[in-house]
Amino acid sequence: MKLTVVGGGSTYTPELVDGFARLRDTLPIEELVLVDPAADRLELVGGLARRIFARQGHPGRIVTTDDLDRGVEGADAVLLQLRVGGQAARERDETWPLECGCVGQETTGAGGLAKALRTVPVVLDIAERVRRTNPDAWIIDFTNPVGIVTRALLRAGHKAVGLCNVAIGLQRKFAARLGVAPAEVHLDHVGLNHLTWETGVRLGGPTGEDVLPKLLADHGEAIAADLRLPRPVLDRLGVVPSYYLRYYYAHDEVVRELGAKPSRAAEVAAMERELLEMYADPALDEKPALLARRGGAFYSEAAVDLAASLLGDGGSPYQVVNTVNGSTLPFLPSDAVIEVQAAVGPDGAEPLPVPTVDPLYAGLMANVTAYEDLALDAALRGGRDRVFRALLSHPLIGQYEYAETLTDRLLAHNREHLAWA
Ligand code: G6P
Ligand code: MN
Repeated sequence: MKLTVVGGGSTYTPELVDGFARLRDTLPIEELVLVDPAADRLELVGGLARRIFARQGHPGRIVTTDDLDRGVEGADAVLLQLRVGGQAARERDETWPLECGCVGQETTGAGGLAKALRTVPVVLDIAERVRRTNPDAWIIDFTNPVGIVTRALLRAGHKAVGLCNVAIGLQRKFAARLGVAPAEVHLDHVGLNHLTWETGVRLGGPTGEDVLPKLLADHGEAIAADLRLPRPVLDRLGVVPSYYLRYYYAHDEVVRELGAKPSRAAEVAAMERELLEMYADPALDEKPALLARRGGAFYSEAAVDLAASLLGDGGSPYQVVNTVNGSTLPFLPSDAVIEVQAAVGPDGAEPLPVPTVDPLYAGLMANVTAYEDLALDAALRGGRDRVFRALLSHPLIGQYEYAETLTDRLLAHNREHLAWA
């Protein structure tokens, strides 16, 4: 089996490689190719990746290259984990929306739109090149904003599935609180990428007993503290929203908080410098603890699971992925990309049926789906007016004055990355 990681020079890669090494029985990789244009990072990350494989006795070969076409040749799956413009562009996404009193975040709100505009054309170009050399390869997209990027890939007819680690993170945490193995915990997970709710927590599988009420009764305080939402909010909802819902449910509070501290991008950039120094040490042969302070916990396990199911029968029978809605959520267009439990196999991901969704969540999902559609239109066709329409449609923006100002700022901060601007 050959797997290619585009953006392989990311400081996240050792997390991924550690998972590949530990879970080699599930996903027997013979060759792992790390593709990245940044030669220095790639060398450091590639070096550590080889040492991790060696330490864990993994027989697979690790190749590093800046040549995408060569890198994807013969690959069974291609994982996309890139960040157009790096942390510097992210820093801007997290900053200028705050000046208008709007949340500054890399996937939610105006910053998320900026990221989508920069990213969609690049990812589509990569996917096109993958298809040309290798039409059978699966594309696994971890590149944010995952919902919009996956929708772009599927609309262009690519064999793609979108991946996020929010669900697997909650599954692991709930399992620990319940004192059961993670595989025992099945989440009734519904929504769009970074806009999801756990409406049930079942033991043993999709038809198992729902222990969410008990989980909230016994551990509500800790779960609320994790999400930084007041406990009564969780009790009233009776579901567990993902931490990205805090940008909605506590928008003004988050804006005040973000305005009073350095950006997450600055924090991550500092961590990345430290990580790269560590990776340069030839004695280091495991992922450093510092990596756990990044947001990608369990990303590797989710990726192994997904790749194993797409390429054979090694993965879990049901997984939370981003895939096409079809008729799963009848209040959304059939070509929307949703994040739900799906049966995953060599033919792709087939969403499990979802019971009727409370209008409290369905309304927001429908609104953000419409925004994602307009965002994709702006990313594919460009133009100030399309950017304005996407911003105006976003539930966290909505007012024409904000949308006008944010459009100007978005364009001013992203010209170098937008061919049409
Ligand atoms: C979580 C999200 C990812 C996001 C990451 C950010 O893992 O699911 O989509 O990229 O957090 O983490 P960072 O350490 O870069 O802030
Ligand atoms: Mn994510």
